[in-house]
Amino acid sequence: MGYKDVYQTWQNDPEGFWMDQAQAIDWVTPPKKALDDSKAPLYRWFTDAEVNTCYNAVDRHVENGRGDQTAIIYDSPITDTKSKITYAELQTRVASLAGALRAKGVAKGDRVIIYMPMVPEALEAMLACARLGAIHSVVFGGFAASELAVRIDDATPKAIIAGSCGVEPGRIVKYKPLLDGAIEQAKHKPEFCIIFQREQETADLIAGRDFDWHAVQKDVAPAECVPVKGDHPAYILYTSGTTGAPKGVVRPTAGHLVALNWTMKNIYNVDPGDVFWAASDVGWVVGHSYICYAPLIHGNTTVVFEGKPIGTPDAGTFWRVIEEHNVRSFFTAPTAFRAIKREDPKGEMIKNYDISCLRALYLAGERADPDTIEWAQKIMGVPVYDHWWQTETGYTIAGNPAGIEALPVKIGSPTVAMPGYDVQILDEGGNPMPAGELGAIAVKLPLPPGTLPTLWNAEDRFVKSYLTTFPGYYETGDAGIIDEDGYLYIMARTDDVINVAGHRLSTGAMEEILASHPEVGECAVIGVADELKGQLPMGFVCLNNGCTIPEDQIKAEIIKLVRDKIGPVAAFKLVAVVDRLPKTRSGKILRATMVKIAGSEDFKMPATIDDPAILDEIRAALKPMGYAK
Ligand code: COA
Ligand code: AMP
Repeated sequence: MGYKDVYQTWQNDPEGFWMDQAQAIDWVTPPKKALDDSKAPLYRWFTDAEVNTCYNAVDRHVENGRGDQTAIIYDSPITDTKSKITYAELQTRVASLAGALRAKGVAKGDRVIIYMPMVPEALEAMLACARLGAIHSVVFGGFAASELAVRIDDATPKAIIAGSCGVEPGRIVKYKPLLDGAIEQAKHKPEFCIIFQREQETADLIAGRDFDWHAVQKDVAPAECVPVKGDHPAYILYTSGTTGAPKGVVRPTAGHLVALNWTMKNIYNVDPGDVFWAASDVGWVVGHSYICYAPLIHGNTTVVFEGKPIGTPDAGTFWRVIEEHNVRSFFTAPTAFRAIKREDPKGEMIKNYDISCLRALYLAGERADPDTIEWAQKIMGVPVYDHWWQTETGYTIAGNPAGIEALPVKIGSPTVAMPGYDVQILDEGGNPMPAGELGAIAVKLPLPPGTLPTLWNAEDRFVKSYLTTFPGYYETGDAGIIDEDGYLYIMARTDDVINVAGHRLSTGAMEEILASHPEVGECAVIGVADELKGQLPMGFVCLNNGCTIPEDQIKAEIIKLVRDKIGPVAAFKLVAVVDRLPKTRSGKILRATMVKIAGSEDFKMPATIDDPAILDEIRAALKPMGYAK
């Protein structure tokens, strides 16, 4: 069957399609029914089933003869470490950690926050929670203490599992002070913390609250897998919305297992036993789905890479890892390739390696610009597949189903909708638009298995954010086009979310921080185009009348404030001080117009602008920073 047949099979009988895919999962109680629409428009899948994620990702492979196969390859050029863990070893390690968590009182439904760098123990912590039916929430290591605190208060975890440090080029990021600061700031206090001490940094433990990773596992019985209901939350992953409060995306257990397993062959074209590598971080959805869960559920070997595309030690690192570990399918963000291209434009480094094991490169997380795709195709000699998805969905909405049929690549398009997704372009009134016209991208409900059924503790926000603008549809927050061949093009966000080096950030959250500076009267944050990171945040601030602090000092304070409150990953380094912000007569800041000015793009003067002269002031402020040329 080709792609069209498979898509048609799904369209003809969506429930039958997913029931078929469900056969690849080992159930405690198999589902009799796929879709539960009793609370529509809130849909759930496989609610009558019972299952355990860790069993499917680990134990069943040991029982089925894959015990000696490598489950995890840890390759850390930044610490000069490599190791391998077989499925049998992984089972022992995860059961032991789960036993320790259980002995300290963690049970089904309890939340556990995981704040760890890219080490195999991060995956073990996730799997240990899954083994007990505890709900993990991984927080990216590049986030500051206040972001961690917000997540602690929302998820109210019984425990936190943290590493002692992360290792970034040229510096050790001590996690323990960040963790202690976050717990101090948060209203909710975890009962205990488990600290994984790395040799680069030994953290001081607080007696009675903090326990050493290894010590806590001594003399405890390993834990068995605990069955959970099909719609039991497997995890919560916080992502940026339009305000400072992140959205807690809930991932349902059974749908997650079924859908991720399906993607491994049909999209990534790997068979059990093959090595699959996603160069991302466990703190992001790509890391959840494609460093940890999907490859393990499918019986693949996954690579945990702790390093950067360049500088650890050079722009040949990716090629070395592919060759050395016999990687079949490789997944990363376009920004990583832009970094390599900048460092090694002619692709000289790749000539030192044999990457003939690789079948395809998959890019996602941000717009894949044509230059980068063409360059990657040329130097790597394999197909480059862009694919589009979100934290909310957890896997591909539109992609190239290479394992079913490799469709012709149209550069600039992540290709076509995957089975499960009826993707449509809507106008403001929610009417479908003709092929080739730009509109809001929406997906007809119900979304497929594995996608978010709700937001943690925030069902109203879920309905308001995603289901209200276009009744009967899920609003993706992206705008785009579908061409005559059904190929989708993602053009822009329709909200205040920006994408910095593949990291999703909220300009609204940054504005809240800028506004908290005592000398800032008014502010706006926009995303400006950046050659390396895709976008960078840029702040505009109007200072209070009579402010006597030098502008440079204020700018430095604001930059530090964002770094301290959100984290270094926000890459917030551009600030302009202006007298006024361009607004409509009703007082709405014209951010989209500012983006166009910064990017030296043509724009139509907004009819509702209050005072067009302000745009010249904005232009004048941008020029010295190298924008608005
Ligand atoms: N813990 C602590 N700090 C972190 C961190 C982590 N896990 N990850 C990043 N940071 C810090 C960096 O050290 C840097 O700090 P600095 O301002 O002191 O230099 C800052 O956050 C920005 O980091 P990063 O986005 O990695 O940018 P960079 O300039 O260091 O490197 C790239 C540029 C392109 C090499 C890098 O962005 C990259 O590898 N991108 C791939 C992105 C990716 O995999 N995204 C996942 C989505 S699929
Ligand atoms: P995240 O939830 O962090 O995965 O970010 C999801 C958002 O990133 C999407 O809504 C898009 O705006 C953007 N995005 C992800 N993949 C792509 C892609 N292939 N092309 C363009 N934008 C993308």
